[in-house]
Amino acid sequence: MSLPEPLDLGAGRALMVLTGAGVSAESGLSTFRGGGGLWEDHPVEQVASPEGFARDPALVWRFYSERRRGAAGARPNAGHIALARIEERLGDRFLLATQNVDGLHAAAGSRRLLEMHGSLFRTRCSGCDRPPFADCAAYDGPPLCDLCGGLLRPDIVWFGESLDPACLDLIERFMIRSAAAGGFVFLAAGTSGSVWPAAGCVEAAGSLGARTVLVNAEPPVNLHSFDEFHQGASGSILPALLGTG
Ligand code: OAD
Repeated sequence: MSLPEPLDLGAGRALMVLTGAGVSAESGLSTFRGGGGLWEDHPVEQVASPEGFARDPALVWRFYSERRRGAAGARPNAGHIALARIEERLGDRFLLATQNVDGLHAAAGSRRLLEMHGSLFRTRCSGCDRPPFADCAAYDGPPLCDLCGGLLRPDIVWFGESLDPACLDLIERFMIRSAAAGGFVFLAAGTSGSVWPAAGCVEAAGSLGARTVLVNAEPPVNLHSFDEFHQGASGSILPALLGTG
């Protein structure tokens, strides 16, 4: 596989990046749709949804406890590290929005980072509005809130739930500001483009005149939305594409 030439990020151009589960695959974490999107023969939508949690909170906590254990043992790969390095070079001309909840971008040093779908290592109460809190514990039975006695849940955006509007607003404002300043590149990596609103970012970027670039192991459902497609592993392609070697 030949590696791409570095993106043209000169003359004040900004870089907006969207990542998905594929960028963590080389760190040993499974993706959602590559392997059929099943866990213990449950469609992921069943265990990652409010309905699934209401039906069987213990099953949902087993699912997320297993993912916590897996992610706790994982390390950032060369793709995560390349994104942290280009952020150091670009500063406020860089923004990374991730659909991932595994914490690996932060572990690699990314700071201009939006975790659109929440975090595996945060827990919140489904019964009261106590602030979400850091939590890496694995639970067999569903834990209860010590303030209200309600069921605690992972601080993750489930199927059928809305993203934090402030997060989407930050992405939109970054892209509009970047388009007005010196233009920008929109780079997506390791995502099947199956889940909205994240999957719609590329169209918004293109409508603002961005060059849209995709790095993915296989052609995703929204391939037609991209100007440029590099098929392969993000751990190999991103360091070359970002010139962070
Ligand atoms: P998916 O599992 O849907 O897609 C992962 C993509 O990464 C696939 O298209 C793979 O071909 C690709 N891929 C796998 N290994 C790769 C590698 N080494 N390098 C590059 N690409 C690779 O994951 P997402 O698109 O992130 O939401 O799924 C979006 C959301 O659906 C997730 O955030 C999750 C799920 O429901 C929640 O959990 C709320």
